[in-house]
Amino acid sequence: MTARPPAAVPASWWLPRGIVALRVRIFARVNGEQTLTLPNAAYGPDVFERVYAHPAADGRSAGAALSDLFWYWLSPGPEVHQEHLEPGPRYDDVAATTRRILAGDSAGHAAAAARVFARLLDTVPATRVSLVRLRDLVMPAWAEFAYELVFREPCPPRARELITAHARDVISALKCTGLRHPRRRARLTAYLRERVAAGDVPHALPASLTPAEQVHYLQGTFFNTAVVQLSEATAHVLLALARHRRVQDRVAADPDDDRYLTRVLDETMRLYPLFGIAHRITTGTIPLDADTALPAGSVVCFSYPDYHATGYERPDEFDPDRWAGQSAKDAHHIPFGVAANRPCPAWRISPIVMRAAIREVLRRFRLDSTASHTRSLPNRAPCLLLPRHLPPRPRRLAARRALVRSRDKAEDVTRGVRQLLLGTVMVLHARRQRPAARYFAAHPAGSPPPPGSCPVARPEDEST
Ligand code: HEM
Repeated sequence: MTARPPAAVPASWWLPRGIVALRVRIFARVNGEQTLTLPNAAYGPDVFERVYAHPAADGRSAGAALSDLFWYWLSPGPEVHQEHLEPGPRYDDVAATTRRILAGDSAGHAAAAARVFARLLDTVPATRVSLVRLRDLVMPAWAEFAYELVFREPCPPRARELITAHARDVISALKCTGLRHPRRRARLTAYLRERVAAGDVPHALPASLTPAEQVHYLQGTFFNTAVVQLSEATAHVLLALARHRRVQDRVAADPDDDRYLTRVLDETMRLYPLFGIAHRITTGTIPLDADTALPAGSVVCFSYPDYHATGYERPDEFDPDRWAGQSAKDAHHIPFGVAANRPCPAWRISPIVMRAAIREVLRRFRLDSTASHTRSLPNRAPCLLLPRHLPPRPRRLAARRALVRSRDKAEDVTRGVRQLLLGTVMVLHARRQRPAARYFAAHPAGSPPPPGSCPVARPEDEST
Protein backbone atom coordinates (compact mmCIF):
# COMPACT_ATOMS: atom_id res chain seq x y z
CA MET A 1 0.00 0.00 0.00
CA THR A 2 1.01 3.61 -0.44
CA ALA A 3 2.94 5.17 2.44
CA ARG A 4 0.92 7.64 4.45
CA PRO A 5 2.00 11.24 3.80
CA PRO A 6 3.09 13.66 6.51
CA ALA A 7 0.11 15.16 8.34
CA ALA A 8 0.89 18.68 7.13
CA VAL A 9 0.45 17.81 3.45
CA PRO A 10 -3.10 18.58 2.24
CA ALA A 11 -5.13 15.55 1.17
CA SER A 12 -5.84 17.01 -2.26
CA TRP A 13 -2.12 16.81 -3.01
CA TRP A 14 -1.25 13.32 -1.84
CA LEU A 15 -4.41 11.34 -2.43
CA PRO A 16 -4.45 11.38 -6.25
CA ARG A 17 -0.74 10.57 -6.44
CA GLY A 18 -1.06 7.74 -3.93
CA ILE A 19 -3.97 6.34 -5.88
CA VAL A 20 -2.18 6.62 -9.20
CA ALA A 21 0.78 4.71 -7.72
CA LEU A 22 -1.51 2.02 -6.39
CA ARG A 23 -3.29 1.71 -9.74
CA VAL A 24 0.02 1.40 -11.55
CA ARG A 25 0.91 -1.47 -9.19
CA ILE A 26 -2.40 -3.22 -9.79
CA PHE A 27 -1.94 -3.01 -13.57
CA ALA A 28 1.68 -4.12 -13.31
CA ARG A 29 0.51 -7.23 -11.45
CA VAL A 30 -1.90 -8.06 -14.26
CA ASN A 31 1.04 -8.86 -16.43
CA GLY A 32 2.89 -11.24 -14.17
CA GLU A 33 6.63 -11.45 -13.81
CA GLN A 34 8.03 -11.92 -17.28
CA THR A 35 7.50 -8.23 -18.05
CA LEU A 36 10.30 -5.77 -18.67
CA THR A 37 9.69 -2.03 -18.81
CA LEU A 38 12.15 0.09 -20.81
CA PRO A 39 13.94 2.38 -20.30
CA ASN A 40 14.87 1.60 -16.69
CA ALA A 41 17.82 2.13 -14.34
CA ALA A 42 19.80 -0.72 -15.91
CA TYR A 43 18.83 -0.32 -19.57
CA GLY A 44 18.66 3.23 -20.87
CA PRO A 45 17.23 4.95 -23.94
CA ASP A 46 19.68 3.26 -26.34
CA VAL A 47 18.46 -0.19 -25.29
CA PHE A 48 14.85 1.07 -25.49
CA GLU A 49 15.44 2.11 -29.12
CA ARG A 50 17.27 -1.08 -30.06
CA VAL A 51 14.72 -3.45 -28.53
CA TYR A 52 11.68 -1.53 -29.86
CA ALA A 53 13.15 -1.66 -33.38
CA HIS A 54 14.23 -5.32 -33.12
CA PRO A 55 12.49 -7.64 -35.63
CA ALA A 56 11.70 -10.12 -32.83
CA ALA A 57 9.73 -7.45 -30.91
CA ASP A 58 6.78 -8.12 -33.16
CA GLY A 59 4.16 -10.01 -31.14
CA ARG A 60 1.16 -7.81 -30.47
CA SER A 61 -1.45 -9.61 -28.42
CA ALA A 62 -0.95 -13.37 -28.03
CA GLY A 63 0.79 -14.35 -24.81
CA ALA A 64 0.40 -11.18 -22.69
CA ALA A 65 -2.13 -10.96 -19.88
CA LEU A 66 -2.17 -7.20 -20.52
CA SER A 67 -3.80 -7.91 -23.91
CA ASP A 68 -6.96 -9.17 -22.17
CA LEU A 69 -7.34 -5.76 -20.57
CA PHE A 70 -6.82 -3.83 -23.82
CA TRP A 71 -9.13 -6.13 -25.75
CA TYR A 72 -11.74 -5.72 -23.04
CA TRP A 73 -11.49 -1.94 -23.25
CA LEU A 74 -11.51 -1.83 -27.05
CA SER A 75 -14.36 -4.28 -27.60
CA PRO A 76 -16.22 -4.83 -29.90
CA GLY A 77 -13.86 -6.29 -32.45
CA PRO A 78 -10.46 -5.98 -30.72
CA GLU A 79 -9.28 -9.07 -32.65
CA VAL A 80 -9.39 -7.06 -35.91
CA HIS A 81 -8.17 -3.74 -34.53
CA GLN A 82 -5.01 -2.92 -36.49
CA GLU A 83 -3.11 -2.17 -33.30
CA HIS A 84 -3.75 -5.65 -31.94
CA LEU A 85 -3.48 -7.88 -35.02
CA GLU A 86 -0.52 -10.23 -35.11
CA PRO A 87 1.85 -9.75 -38.06
CA GLY A 88 0.78 -11.65 -41.18
CA PRO A 89 -1.37 -11.31 -44.28
CA ARG A 90 -4.47 -10.10 -42.40
CA TYR A 91 -2.46 -7.40 -40.70
CA ASP A 92 -0.95 -6.35 -44.05
CA ASP A 93 -4.40 -6.19 -45.63
CA VAL A 94 -5.82 -4.09 -42.78
CA ALA A 95 -2.79 -1.77 -42.60
CA ALA A 96 -2.95 -1.16 -46.39
CA THR A 97 -6.65 -0.26 -46.10
CA THR A 98 -5.94 2.23 -43.30
CA ARG A 99 -3.22 3.83 -45.40
CA ARG A 100 -5.61 4.16 -48.35
CA ILE A 101 -8.35 5.75 -46.24
CA LEU A 102 -5.85 8.21 -44.70
CA ALA A 103 -4.31 9.09 -48.06
CA GLY A 104 -4.98 12.48 -49.61
CA ASP A 105 -3.32 15.83 -49.98
CA SER A 106 -2.35 17.87 -46.93
CA ALA A 107 -4.28 20.95 -48.03
CA GLY A 108 -7.48 18.93 -48.41
CA HIS A 109 -7.11 17.36 -44.96
CA ALA A 110 -6.31 20.73 -43.35
CA ALA A 111 -9.34 22.33 -45.04
CA ALA A 112 -11.60 19.50 -43.80
CA ALA A 113 -10.32 19.92 -40.22
CA ALA A 114 -10.77 23.72 -40.37
CA ARG A 115 -14.30 23.22 -41.68
CA VAL A 116 -15.44 20.83 -38.96
CA PHE A 117 -13.90 23.06 -36.28
CA ALA A 118 -15.50 26.20 -37.70
CA ARG A 119 -18.88 24.42 -37.55
CA LEU A 120 -18.24 23.32 -33.98
CA LEU A 121 -17.07 26.75 -32.80
CA ASP A 122 -20.14 28.40 -34.32
CA THR A 123 -22.07 26.66 -31.52
CA VAL A 124 -19.95 28.24 -28.74
CA PRO A 125 -21.39 31.57 -27.49
CA ALA A 126 -19.45 34.51 -28.92
CA THR A 127 -20.85 37.06 -26.44
CA ARG A 128 -19.69 35.61 -23.13
CA VAL A 129 -16.96 33.55 -21.52
CA SER A 130 -17.59 29.78 -21.59
CA LEU A 131 -16.17 27.15 -19.28
CA VAL A 132 -15.62 23.93 -21.23
CA ARG A 133 -13.76 20.66 -21.02
CA LEU A 134 -11.57 20.76 -24.07
CA ARG A 135 -11.67 17.04 -24.76
CA ASP A 136 -15.47 17.01 -24.74
CA LEU A 137 -15.58 20.18 -26.81
CA VAL A 138 -13.40 18.91 -29.65
CA MET A 139 -14.53 15.28 -29.86
CA PRO A 140 -17.65 15.85 -32.01
CA ALA A 141 -15.53 17.78 -34.53
CA TRP A 142 -13.05 14.91 -34.82
CA ALA A 143 -15.99 12.49 -35.07
CA GLU A 144 -17.17 14.46 -38.12
CA PHE A 145 -13.66 14.51 -39.53
CA ALA A 146 -13.27 10.72 -39.18
CA TYR A 147 -16.71 10.18 -40.73
CA GLU A 148 -15.71 12.31 -43.74
CA LEU A 149 -12.49 10.31 -44.15
CA VAL A 150 -14.40 7.04 -44.26
CA PHE A 151 -17.59 8.01 -46.08
CA ARG A 152 -16.31 10.94 -48.15
CA GLU A 153 -19.47 12.95 -47.46
CA PRO A 154 -20.57 15.45 -44.76
CA CYS A 155 -21.36 13.84 -41.42
CA PRO A 156 -25.06 13.68 -40.44
CA PRO A 157 -25.80 14.69 -36.80
CA ARG A 158 -26.98 11.17 -35.87
CA ALA A 159 -23.70 9.62 -36.99
CA ARG A 160 -21.74 12.31 -35.12
CA GLU A 161 -23.66 11.51 -31.93
CA LEU A 162 -23.18 7.75 -32.26
CA ILE A 163 -19.45 8.10 -32.96
CA THR A 164 -18.90 10.59 -30.12
CA ALA A 165 -20.82 8.45 -27.62
CA HIS A 166 -18.77 5.42 -28.61
CA ALA A 167 -15.38 7.17 -28.51
CA ARG A 168 -16.20 8.84 -25.19
CA ASP A 169 -17.16 5.49 -23.71
CA VAL A 170 -13.89 3.87 -24.80
CA ILE A 171 -11.68 6.65 -23.48
CA SER A 172 -13.52 6.90 -20.14
CA ALA A 173 -13.07 3.16 -19.62
CA LEU A 174 -9.38 3.31 -20.64
CA LYS A 175 -8.79 6.04 -18.10
CA CYS A 176 -10.92 4.25 -15.51
CA THR A 177 -13.14 7.30 -15.09
CA GLY A 178 -16.17 5.27 -16.17
CA LEU A 179 -17.23 1.67 -16.85
CA ARG A 180 -17.91 0.41 -20.37
CA HIS A 181 -21.39 0.71 -21.85
CA PRO A 182 -21.47 -2.09 -24.41
CA ARG A 183 -24.97 -1.20 -25.64
CA ARG A 184 -23.85 2.33 -26.48
CA ARG A 185 -21.00 0.88 -28.54
CA ALA A 186 -23.34 -1.66 -30.16
CA ARG A 187 -25.53 1.17 -31.49
CA LEU A 188 -22.63 2.43 -33.59
CA THR A 189 -21.88 -1.14 -34.75
CA ALA A 190 -25.49 -1.51 -35.92
CA TYR A 191 -25.34 1.81 -37.78
CA LEU A 192 -22.06 0.89 -39.50
CA ARG A 193 -23.33 -2.59 -40.34
CA GLU A 194 -26.22 -1.05 -42.28
CA ARG A 195 -23.98 1.43 -44.07
CA VAL A 196 -21.40 -1.19 -45.05
CA ALA A 197 -24.12 -3.59 -46.23
CA ALA A 198 -25.65 -0.80 -48.33
CA GLY A 199 -22.28 -0.28 -50.03
CA ASP A 200 -21.97 3.29 -48.69
CA VAL A 201 -18.23 3.07 -47.92
CA PRO A 202 -16.39 4.28 -51.03
CA HIS A 203 -13.14 2.47 -50.07
CA ALA A 204 -12.30 -1.18 -50.67
CA LEU A 205 -12.44 -2.75 -47.19
CA PRO A 206 -10.00 -5.53 -46.18
CA ALA A 207 -10.91 -8.54 -48.32
CA SER A 208 -9.48 -10.94 -45.72
CA LEU A 209 -12.12 -9.86 -43.17
CA THR A 210 -15.73 -10.98 -43.05
CA PRO A 211 -18.36 -8.21 -43.43
CA ALA A 212 -18.92 -8.24 -39.64
CA GLU A 213 -15.17 -7.88 -39.08
CA GLN A 214 -14.95 -5.05 -41.62
CA VAL A 215 -17.52 -3.17 -39.53
CA HIS A 216 -15.49 -3.75 -36.38
CA TYR A 217 -12.33 -2.66 -38.17
CA LEU A 218 -13.91 0.67 -39.17
CA GLN A 219 -15.37 1.12 -35.71
CA GLY A 220 -12.10 0.38 -33.89
CA THR A 221 -9.60 2.17 -36.08
CA PHE A 222 -11.51 5.20 -37.34
CA PHE A 223 -14.39 5.77 -34.94
CA ASN A 224 -12.47 4.93 -31.81
CA THR A 225 -8.70 5.34 -32.25
CA ALA A 226 -8.71 8.25 -34.72
CA VAL A 227 -11.36 10.20 -32.81
CA VAL A 228 -9.93 9.50 -29.36
CA GLN A 229 -6.31 10.20 -30.27
CA LEU A 230 -7.02 13.42 -32.17
CA SER A 231 -9.31 14.64 -29.37
CA GLU A 232 -6.80 13.86 -26.63
CA ALA A 233 -3.89 15.37 -28.52
CA THR A 234 -5.82 18.54 -29.42
CA ALA A 235 -7.01 18.92 -25.82
CA HIS A 236 -3.40 18.60 -24.62
CA VAL A 237 -2.15 21.29 -27.01
CA LEU A 238 -5.01 23.69 -26.23
CA LEU A 239 -4.59 23.16 -22.48
CA ALA A 240 -0.85 23.78 -22.74
CA LEU A 241 -1.60 27.02 -24.61
CA ALA A 242 -4.24 27.98 -22.02
CA ARG A 243 -1.69 27.55 -19.22
CA HIS A 244 1.20 29.27 -21.02
CA ARG A 245 -0.05 32.70 -21.96
CA ARG A 246 3.11 33.91 -23.70
CA VAL A 247 3.28 30.82 -25.90
CA GLN A 248 -0.39 31.26 -26.78
CA ASP A 249 0.08 34.94 -27.65
CA ARG A 250 2.97 34.04 -29.91
CA VAL A 251 0.93 31.46 -31.81
CA ALA A 252 -2.10 33.77 -32.02
CA ALA A 253 0.03 36.67 -33.30
CA ASP A 254 0.89 34.71 -36.43
CA PRO A 255 -1.36 31.67 -36.61
CA ASP A 256 -0.28 30.84 -40.16
CA ASP A 257 3.36 30.42 -39.12
CA ASP A 258 3.65 26.63 -39.10
CA ARG A 259 7.11 26.62 -37.57
CA TYR A 260 6.30 27.86 -34.10
CA LEU A 261 3.02 25.93 -33.90
CA THR A 262 4.92 22.77 -34.89
CA ARG A 263 7.33 23.36 -32.00
CA VAL A 264 4.37 23.73 -29.65
CA LEU A 265 2.93 20.43 -30.91
CA ASP A 266 6.29 18.66 -30.65
CA GLU A 267 6.84 19.89 -27.12
CA THR A 268 3.29 19.04 -26.01
CA MET A 269 3.55 15.52 -27.40
CA ARG A 270 7.00 15.11 -25.81
CA LEU A 271 5.79 16.09 -22.35
CA TYR A 272 2.31 14.53 -22.63
CA PRO A 273 2.66 11.57 -25.02
CA LEU A 274 -0.70 9.91 -25.64
CA PHE A 275 0.77 6.47 -25.05
CA GLY A 276 1.91 5.78 -21.49
CA ILE A 277 3.25 2.45 -22.63
CA ALA A 278 3.15 0.41 -25.82
CA HIS A 279 3.78 -3.29 -25.38
CA ARG A 280 5.14 -6.09 -27.54
CA ILE A 281 5.58 -9.82 -27.00
CA THR A 282 8.94 -11.10 -28.19
CA THR A 283 8.91 -13.91 -30.77
CA GLY A 284 12.67 -14.60 -30.60
CA THR A 285 15.65 -13.86 -28.37
CA ILE A 286 16.68 -10.20 -28.09
CA PRO A 287 20.05 -9.31 -26.51
CA LEU A 288 19.92 -6.59 -23.84
CA ASP A 289 23.67 -6.42 -23.25
CA ALA A 290 26.70 -8.69 -23.62
CA ASP A 291 25.52 -11.03 -20.83
CA THR A 292 21.75 -10.81 -20.82
CA ALA A 293 19.06 -11.61 -23.36
CA LEU A 294 15.29 -11.45 -23.38
CA PRO A 295 13.87 -14.88 -24.17
CA ALA A 296 11.05 -15.38 -26.68
CA GLY A 297 7.64 -14.89 -25.07
CA SER A 298 8.70 -11.92 -22.91
CA VAL A 299 6.38 -8.95 -22.59
CA VAL A 300 8.21 -5.67 -23.10
CA CYS A 301 6.55 -2.40 -22.10
CA PHE A 302 7.98 0.69 -23.78
CA SER A 303 7.42 3.69 -21.54
CA TYR A 304 6.98 6.81 -23.65
CA PRO A 305 7.07 9.36 -20.79
CA ASP A 306 10.30 7.86 -19.41
CA TYR A 307 11.96 7.76 -22.83
CA HIS A 308 10.79 11.32 -23.62
CA ALA A 309 12.36 12.53 -20.37
CA THR A 310 15.85 11.35 -21.37
CA GLY A 311 18.31 13.44 -23.36
CA TYR A 312 16.86 16.87 -22.57
CA GLU A 313 17.80 19.68 -20.26
CA ARG A 314 14.95 20.47 -17.83
CA PRO A 315 12.84 17.60 -19.22
CA ASP A 316 9.86 18.41 -16.96
CA GLU A 317 9.52 21.93 -18.31
CA PHE A 318 7.17 22.90 -21.14
CA ASP A 319 9.46 24.81 -23.49
CA PRO A 320 8.57 24.86 -27.21
CA ASP A 321 11.74 26.84 -27.91
CA ARG A 322 13.87 23.80 -27.15
CA TRP A 323 12.94 22.71 -30.70
CA ALA A 324 14.32 25.90 -32.28
CA GLY A 325 17.82 24.48 -32.38
CA GLN A 326 17.14 20.77 -32.68
CA SER A 327 15.12 18.54 -34.93
CA ALA A 328 12.54 16.24 -33.36
CA LYS A 329 13.84 13.50 -35.69
CA ASP A 330 17.24 13.50 -33.97
CA ALA A 331 15.89 13.67 -30.42
CA HIS A 332 14.28 11.14 -28.07
CA HIS A 333 10.89 11.97 -29.49
CA ILE A 334 8.50 9.25 -30.72
CA PRO A 335 4.93 10.54 -30.25
CA PHE A 336 3.82 8.35 -33.16
CA GLY A 337 5.93 5.30 -32.30
CA VAL A 338 9.09 4.01 -33.97
CA ALA A 339 9.43 3.75 -37.75
CA ALA A 340 10.79 0.20 -37.62
CA ASN A 341 7.95 -1.29 -35.57
CA ARG A 342 4.40 -0.49 -36.59
CA PRO A 343 4.35 3.28 -36.18
CA CYS A 344 1.09 5.21 -36.23
CA PRO A 345 -0.34 5.26 -39.77
CA ALA A 346 -1.62 8.80 -39.07
CA TRP A 347 1.80 10.24 -38.17
CA ARG A 348 1.76 12.49 -41.23
CA ILE A 349 -1.86 13.64 -41.26
CA SER A 350 -2.33 14.20 -37.48
CA PRO A 351 -0.09 17.28 -37.02
CA ILE A 352 -1.47 18.83 -40.22
CA VAL A 353 -5.10 18.57 -39.15
CA MET A 354 -4.37 19.49 -35.54
CA ARG A 355 -2.61 22.69 -36.60
CA ALA A 356 -5.64 23.62 -38.72
CA ALA A 357 -8.00 22.93 -35.81
CA ILE A 358 -5.92 24.88 -33.29
CA ARG A 359 -5.68 27.88 -35.58
CA GLU A 360 -9.44 27.91 -35.93
CA VAL A 361 -9.85 27.94 -32.12
CA LEU A 362 -7.26 30.67 -31.56
CA ARG A 363 -8.76 32.91 -34.24
CA ARG A 364 -11.95 33.16 -32.21
CA PHE A 365 -10.98 32.63 -28.58
CA ARG A 366 -8.33 33.34 -25.98
CA LEU A 367 -7.82 30.33 -23.76
CA ASP A 368 -7.22 30.39 -20.03
CA SER A 369 -6.90 27.52 -17.60
CA THR A 370 -5.74 27.03 -14.03
CA ALA A 371 -6.59 23.32 -14.08
CA SER A 372 -3.89 20.70 -13.65
CA HIS A 373 -2.25 19.28 -16.77
CA THR A 374 -1.23 15.62 -16.56
CA ARG A 375 -0.44 13.10 -19.26
CA SER A 376 -3.55 11.01 -18.73
CA LEU A 377 -5.79 14.09 -18.61
CA PRO A 378 -8.58 12.52 -16.52
CA ASN A 379 -10.08 16.01 -15.93
CA ARG A 380 -10.74 16.32 -19.69
CA ALA A 381 -8.95 19.69 -19.70
CA PRO A 382 -11.19 22.34 -18.10
CA CYS A 383 -10.67 25.69 -19.80
CA LEU A 384 -12.19 29.16 -20.17
CA LEU A 385 -12.90 30.32 -23.72
CA LEU A 386 -12.83 34.12 -23.97
CA PRO A 387 -14.17 35.51 -27.25
CA ARG A 388 -11.39 37.63 -28.72
CA HIS A 389 -13.52 40.68 -29.44
CA LEU A 390 -14.85 40.96 -25.84
CA PRO A 391 -13.16 43.66 -23.72
CA PRO A 392 -10.97 42.20 -20.94
CA ARG A 393 -12.54 42.12 -17.45
CA PRO A 394 -9.59 41.23 -15.22
CA ARG A 395 -11.48 41.01 -11.90
CA ARG A 396 -14.18 38.73 -13.29
CA LEU A 397 -11.53 36.61 -14.96
CA ALA A 398 -9.57 36.28 -11.71
CA ALA A 399 -12.71 35.01 -9.94
CA ARG A 400 -13.37 32.47 -12.70
CA ARG A 401 -9.77 31.31 -12.69
CA ALA A 402 -9.99 30.70 -8.94
CA LEU A 403 -13.20 28.72 -9.49
CA VAL A 404 -11.62 26.53 -12.18
CA ARG A 405 -8.63 25.83 -9.91
CA SER A 406 -10.61 24.92 -6.81
CA ARG A 407 -13.15 22.79 -8.69
CA ASP A 408 -10.33 20.89 -10.41
CA LYS A 409 -8.59 20.20 -7.08
CA ALA A 410 -11.79 19.02 -5.43
CA GLU A 411 -12.62 16.76 -8.39
CA ASP A 412 -9.12 15.35 -8.36
CA VAL A 413 -9.67 13.72 -4.98
CA THR A 414 -13.01 12.07 -5.75
CA ARG A 415 -11.91 11.15 -9.26
CA GLY A 416 -8.83 9.37 -7.91
CA VAL A 417 -10.90 7.13 -5.65
CA ARG A 418 -13.37 6.48 -8.44
CA GLN A 419 -10.60 5.55 -10.89
CA LEU A 420 -9.15 3.12 -8.41
CA LEU A 421 -12.49 1.41 -7.82
CA LEU A 422 -13.59 1.32 -11.45
CA GLY A 423 -10.11 0.27 -12.62
CA THR A 424 -10.11 -2.63 -10.19
CA VAL A 425 -13.62 -3.72 -11.26
CA MET A 426 -12.58 -3.67 -14.93
CA VAL A 427 -9.27 -5.46 -14.34
CA LEU A 428 -11.13 -8.24 -12.52
CA HIS A 429 -13.86 -8.38 -15.16
CA ALA A 430 -11.30 -8.55 -17.98
CA ARG A 431 -9.46 -11.30 -16.12
CA ARG A 432 -12.63 -13.30 -15.87
CA GLN A 433 -13.53 -12.80 -19.52
CA ARG A 434 -9.97 -13.24 -20.90
CA PRO A 435 -11.03 -12.12 -24.41
CA ALA A 436 -7.54 -12.32 -25.95
CA ALA A 437 -6.57 -15.58 -24.24
CA ARG A 438 -9.82 -17.22 -25.36
CA TYR A 439 -9.41 -15.99 -28.91
CA PHE A 440 -5.85 -17.30 -29.21
CA ALA A 441 -6.76 -20.60 -27.57
CA ALA A 442 -9.28 -21.11 -30.38
CA HIS A 443 -6.93 -19.77 -33.09
CA PRO A 444 -3.41 -20.73 -32.04
CA ALA A 445 -1.56 -19.25 -35.01
CA GLY A 446 -3.61 -16.06 -34.96
CA SER A 447 -5.47 -17.58 -37.90
CA PRO A 448 -8.73 -15.93 -38.93
CA PRO A 449 -11.82 -17.54 -37.39
CA PRO A 450 -14.37 -19.20 -39.62
CA PRO A 451 -17.33 -16.83 -39.92
CA GLY A 452 -19.64 -16.96 -36.90
CA SER A 453 -17.21 -18.80 -34.60
CA CYS A 454 -15.48 -15.91 -32.86
CA PRO A 455 -15.24 -16.73 -29.15
CA VAL A 456 -14.79 -13.11 -28.07
CA ALA A 457 -17.77 -12.18 -25.90
CA ARG A 458 -20.23 -9.91 -27.65
CA PRO A 459 -20.61 -6.55 -25.93
CA GLU A 460 -24.34 -7.14 -25.48
CA ASP A 461 -23.51 -10.20 -23.34
CA GLU A 462 -21.47 -8.26 -20.86
CA SER A 463 -22.69 -6.86 -17.64
CA THR A 464 -20.78 -3.64 -17.17
C1 HEM B 1 -1.97 12.97 -32.46
C2 HEM B 1 -2.59 11.86 -32.75
C3 HEM B 1 -2.02 10.48 -32.62
C4 HEM B 1 -0.96 10.02 -31.86
C5 HEM B 1 -0.05 10.82 -30.94
C6 HEM B 1 -0.85 8.59 -32.12
C7 HEM B 1 0.12 7.77 -31.56
C8 HEM B 1 0.32 6.44 -31.92
C9 HEM B 1 1.41 5.62 -31.46
C10 HEM B 1 2.50 6.05 -30.52
C11 HEM B 1 1.28 4.41 -32.05
C12 HEM B 1 2.25 3.22 -31.96
C13 HEM B 1 2.11 2.41 -30.71
C14 HEM B 1 2.91 1.14 -30.72
O1 HEM B 1 4.12 1.13 -31.00
O2 HEM B 1 2.30 0.11 -30.44
C15 HEM B 1 0.08 4.44 -32.84
C16 HEM B 1 -0.40 3.38 -33.55
C17 HEM B 1 -1.56 3.41 -34.28
N1 HEM B 1 -2.35 4.51 -34.53
FE1 HEM B 1 -2.04 6.40 -33.87
N2 HEM B 1 -1.83 8.22 -33.00
C18 HEM B 1 -2.55 9.34 -33.34
C19 HEM B 1 -3.59 9.41 -34.24
C20 HEM B 1 -4.09 8.35 -34.93
C21 HEM B 1 -5.15 8.46 -35.92
C22 HEM B 1 -5.82 9.76 -36.39
C23 HEM B 1 -5.38 7.21 -36.37
C24 HEM B 1 -6.40 6.86 -37.43
C25 HEM B 1 -6.43 5.84 -38.19
C26 HEM B 1 -4.45 6.30 -35.68
C27 HEM B 1 -4.39 4.93 -35.85
C28 HEM B 1 -3.39 4.13 -35.33
C29 HEM B 1 -3.28 2.69 -35.61
C30 HEM B 1 -4.22 1.87 -36.47
C31 HEM B 1 -2.14 2.25 -34.95
C32 HEM B 1 -1.56 0.83 -34.97
C33 HEM B 1 -0.48 0.73 -36.02
C34 HEM B 1 -0.04 -0.71 -36.28
O3 HEM B 1 0.11 -1.47 -35.32
O4 HEM B 1 0.15 -1.02 -37.44
N3 HEM B 1 -3.69 7.05 -34.83
N4 HEM B 1 -0.49 5.70 -32.76
